[in-house]
Amino acid sequence: MAAKAPGAGRAPVSEDLVLTRLRDHLRFLKLSHTLRNLDDLLAWARREQPGPTATLEHMLGTEVATKRDARIDRRITTSGLVERKTLEAFDWNFQPTLDKATIVELARLDIVSRAEDVLIHGKPGTGKSHILKGIGLKACEQGVSLRYARCVDLLDDLHAGLADGTYPKRLRAWARPQLLIIDDVGLGHLKKRDDEPTAAHTLYNLVDRRHGRASTAITSNIDLSDWGRYLGDAILTTAILDRIVMNAIRIRIDGPSYRQQVADQRAKKRGAKRGRTSHYDDSKRSAAHLPRPRPPYRKRRLRLHPEPIPA
Ligand SMILES: Nc1ncnc2c1ncn2[C@@H]1O[C@H](COP(=O)(O)OP(=O)(O)OP(=O)(O)O)[C@@H](O)[C@H]1O
Ligand SMILES: [Mg+2]
Repeated sequence: MAAKAPGAGRAPVSEDLVLTRLRDHLRFLKLSHTLRNLDDLLAWARREQPGPTATLEHMLGTEVATKRDARIDRRITTSGLVERKTLEAFDWNFQPTLDKATIVELARLDIVSRAEDVLIHGKPGTGKSHILKGIGLKACEQGVSLRYARCVDLLDDLHAGLADGTYPKRLRAWARPQLLIIDDVGLGHLKKRDDEPTAAHTLYNLVDRRHGRASTAITSNIDLSDWGRYLGDAILTTAILDRIVMNAIRIRIDGPSYRQQVADQRAKKRGAKRGRTSHYDDSKRSAAHLPRPRPPYRKRRLRLHPEPIPA
């Protein structure tokens, strides 16, 4: 028996009733973008008259795009990536010794299917974290499960689990994602109570679980030979390095600090402003009882350097 055309055999219904039903269907199917923009969509269809196929495709296409964007956004939020640094915003000319093609290749994320690790190593401010955050964003766009954390925060989280008995659960959670970014190894003081294992011990547990099963990407601005001192156990650190770093794709960035460049540019701007205000005639100001001009620079709060590596 041939299928009936939609609406065939039904009594004619008013436009209002059809609209009410349409909204109910959209609500039931959770097509919330279309539901919110239905008036605009119908106005567009009346104006442009694209025909039924194109109208349906347009409606579902925008709904799919909105849902896909929301999904990526959720993935980024739950990954722990707070700063959304993109590779598109990276100034490759500033770091000429860095091979752009290698980073672009990494961002294709074949490393994830091969469960390969990455280590980016170099001086402060050279863009190591920016690059891994950019790769992290690509991972979220491509549907790869990601967790991002600074090394100190990751270890704090795991050690907090020792106090309340959630350590195994937390370890499983950090071991699970297809890509784990451990940022800034060597930065920040690793707090350790006497009853807690060393950072090396905790990191070893995690790295050992992930090794060969999932990708781990790490940045560090201290020499690998200093990791043992930083993580508090030379032997376990060797075991970590053996598993992760020796077999990883290693990138060294030897170049200038971008932070330093930004600071130099700001200082230059301040200097230029100071030059302009120096023409201000102070004698006229006091005669006219004018307020003193604001200093051309603002006192900035000193940013504390990270704690030194424990001896
Ligand atoms: N080549 C670049 N183009 C654009 N922005 C950059 C570049 N390099 C670094 N930056 C910016 O400079 C700042 C410092 O960079 P980033 O945090 O990536 O440095 P880092 O190498 O991780 O330093 P650290 O070793 O101190 O952690 C960030 O705001 C980053 O976005
Ligand atoms: Mg960094």
